[in-house]
Amino acid sequence: MTSLSRASAPAKAILVGEHFVVAGCPAIAVAVDVRARAEARLLAEEGVVEVSSRELGSGTFGAQADPRSPLYPVYAAARAVLARAHLNLGLEVRVESDIPPGAGMGSSAAVAVATVAATASLLGLRLSLEEVSSLAYEAEVVVHGRPSGIDNTVSTYGGAIYYRRGEGFVRLEADLEPVRIVLADSGIPRSTGEMVSKVLALKSRHQGVVDRIYDAAARLVEAARDAIERGDYETLGELMNINHGLLSALGVSNAKLEELVYAARAAGALGAKITGAGGGGMVLALAWKEDAEEVARALAKVSGRVILAPISSEGVRGEG
Ligand code: PMV
Repeated sequence: MTSLSRASAPAKAILVGEHFVVAGCPAIAVAVDVRARAEARLLAEEGVVEVSSRELGSGTFGAQADPRSPLYPVYAAARAVLARAHLNLGLEVRVESDIPPGAGMGSSAAVAVATVAATASLLGLRLSLEEVSSLAYEAEVVVHGRPSGIDNTVSTYGGAIYYRRGEGFVRLEADLEPVRIVLADSGIPRSTGEMVSKVLALKSRHQGVVDRIYDAAARLVEAARDAIERGDYETLGELMNINHGLLSALGVSNAKLEELVYAARAAGALGAKITGAGGGGMVLALAWKEDAEEVARALAKVSGRVILAPISSEGVRGEG
């Protein structure tokens, strides 16, 4: 055991396939190099976990931990590692995150992944990536019900992840260095659950028509996978634009999201689309590394928050 351990984990963004994935189509998500960090120390008092967050304040959790506390997920992640190590030591866990919360970027999963890794390293517990991901998932389940598992997977493994509900995940072999991700916030809050219900209701009202859109989306994701593996980012961008059109057809776009998408394309993005649930939240643009600043500048004129970042081929990592 050491006296202090640190780890960090990246955010996620869905590149193609959101919504369609709910009905069994594949999707691809990438790790975005905006990170959550966790730092773990031992405390003298057994069975107590003190959590502090730069964003959310601090709290102490013992046997009677309150699951409604915003800090509870951090506690749950640390607790999952202690349980795995069959230990009941006292811990202090500090977290901070550069990932905007509630924006579909997997901020809670990244915090959970970083917390699991920092705590395991503090306890001298050598976990495989699979174990880190599944302990972080356990903490997510406590808080979010039954998430798909994509957020903790992307945050743990990094890179580009192809997935289909109920099946495993495939980490794609890809050289992601030539491109950058630019995310722009619409400033409009949205509820993923509501958007999913809205789309499913449309699907059931127009089954025969909408099923064709789902077919197209499934083929599009396969073509996108192929483009990523070949490093053909022009084709990937074009497919992302088509994906945006399909999402608009499902009714999850709006005037603000369209404004952001068109601003990114006009500034030279390879492709731009809604990412995640839509109705608000973020737009994602893919750009050549050389063009990304220009795309970010154009988006900053119409968005209150723009994030320019590489795709992180590295997932969770120790921070010395
Ligand atoms: O809003 P986000 O990024 O958490 O993504 C939601 C993705 C959906 O496909 C719309 C829902 C889901 O559970 O996959």
